[in-house]
Amino acid sequence: MKIQIINGPNLNLLGKRETDIYGNETLDDIKEWIEASENLEDHSLKWFQTNHEGEIIDNLHQALENNFDGIIINPGAYTHYSYAIRDAISAIKIDTIEVHLSNIYDREEFRRNSVLKDVCLKQIVGQGKNGYLLAIRQFIHKTS
Ligand code: DQA
Repeated sequence: MKIQIINGPNLNLLGKRETDIYGNETLDDIKEWIEASENLEDHSLKWFQTNHEGEIIDNLHQALENNFDGIIINPGAYTHYSYAIRDAISAIKIDTIEVHLSNIYDREEFRRNSVLKDVCLKQIVGQGKNGYLLAIRQFIHKTS
């Protein structure tokens, strides 16, 4: 399977940013941990991080052009208000799983709403880096 993993704004600061909420590992640490996980050898995982909404949308469009089978997206704060990202996910019709490191339902009120949830196959929250792995496994098991 070809899976695109998209990380949105401020996730480049993982390891430095609010470590009590997001932990001490950087995005590269998480990527290395996932890549060392068992039984992923036959699959292609492409990682992308940006702080810009339009670049997330462009990346989603490229996933369509490049025939990706699944998208895993942690859209950061765009989760809570980006109808443009929602429209892009709807438009490309590639199964998408929304992942959040923290439990967005157990934090500030504004984080409880995801405008993307309804256009995603599934939402995984509060599992830290394991959320990405659970999403990958979900895609692999869906097709095997
Ligand atoms: C986050 C949760 C969002 O509310 C926040 O804006 C983030 C990270 C998470 O992974 O828990 O940037 O998506």
